[in-house]
Amino acid sequence: MAAKGRQQGLTVAVTGPTGDLGIALVDGLERSRRVKRIVGMARRPFDPSSRGWKKTEYRQGDVRDAAGVRDAMKGADVVVHLAFAIVGGGDSQAINVDGSRNVFEAAVDARAKRICYASSVAAYGFHKDNPAWLDEHVPTRGTPAHFYSRQKAEVERVLEDVLAGQTRTSAYVFRPCIVAGPKAQMLLEELPYIRLGEAVPDSVSRVVSWLPMLKPVIPDPGVRFQLVHEDDVASAFLAGALGKGEPGAYNLAASGTLAMSDLADALGWYSIPVPDLAVNVTAGAIARLPGAPEQLGWIQAMRGPVLMRTDRARKLLGWRPQHTSRQTLAALVQAYREESRVS
Ligand SMILES: NC(=O)c1ccc[n+]([C@@H]2O[C@H](COP(=O)([O-])OP(=O)(O)OC[C@H]3O[C@@H](n4cnc5c(N)ncnc54)[C@H](OP(=O)(O)O)[C@@H]3O)[C@@H](O)[C@H]2O)c1
Repeated sequence: MAAKGRQQGLTVAVTGPTGDLGIALVDGLERSRRVKRIVGMARRPFDPSSRGWKKTEYRQGDVRDAAGVRDAMKGADVVVHLAFAIVGGGDSQAINVDGSRNVFEAAVDARAKRICYASSVAAYGFHKDNPAWLDEHVPTRGTPAHFYSRQKAEVERVLEDVLAGQTRTSAYVFRPCIVAGPKAQMLLEELPYIRLGEAVPDSVSRVVSWLPMLKPVIPDPGVRFQLVHEDDVASAFLAGALGKGEPGAYNLAASGTLAMSDLADALGWYSIPVPDLAVNVTAGAIARLPGAPEQLGWIQAMRGPVLMRTDRARKLLGWRPQHTSRQTLAALVQAYREESRVS
């Protein structure tokens, strides 16, 4: 029966279906005629019908619970692993590294054909000797001092380890840059430059004290970055889930690059050029603050450009992102405004 079911349409298990990326991805899976059934798993209570999802069943559970994960993955042809603690906190190693191992092992036990895992540009690490443009041949070394970068690199090794010596289950490893769009608002919610004013007002006001403080100010270290739209990431994952191209690692970024001043312009805020030294001093001061939120570690990440080539996804998956970095920023800001979170 199981084999027959598998021929008729794919069963896709998704960890983290309630997150920014998960919602966009499940929307795409729901629309795909090749997908018959979706099983989502995350910790919060959630009703799939609240999003109009018809093929999706939801299991409330935690990736740290190996038995619960195994149960949710049973019968899956494809396992999409998105669940991750992005802003850190005490248990990030258990959720991100041990939890990912649970998911990958459960996928192999379930004899899934494919795992699609959301790694990140951060897996490469923020190294001075990185090439100007990263392609998938560059080793994912991570940055040890940055928990997210370190764990994203470590989880890629865990995945290799779990898949070693077997041929049934293969892996698509996606490395998106910052994901943004109407739902994915982490750039505005979590990046320290936006929140510094709230978290440590003195640090920012020292740097920008000469400006009239009518509007928020974003320090701009002059580093260029990429964005990718949530729907474009979802379309790459969908291609992987359906087995297009070949397994392996895929960078995901929209065309074009941005600076923090572009973000400030889009929001109608100020930006101020901040030399590297000031960024370093600010980062150091923050790191010493008792109880400083772990996401402020992201300030370290913006010290040098981390830009990715995406030729492989375009060539092998036929990936055609529908939004440039600038259009993605516009979509993000428009949604942010519509929610009246910025004047
Ligand atoms: N957003 C970006 O800019 C970006 C860029 C590159 C890569 N990625 C990667 O893409 C993936 C998805 O990102 P996202 O932006 O959608 O993240 P998100 O909005 O924070 O969503 C995380 C999801 O994981 C679930 N989750 C967290 N801890 C869990 C646990 N212990 N057990 C089960 N589920 C858990 C969350 O639901 P509950 O809290 O209810 O459990 C939620 O559904 C992550 O792996 C992230 O690292 C994101």
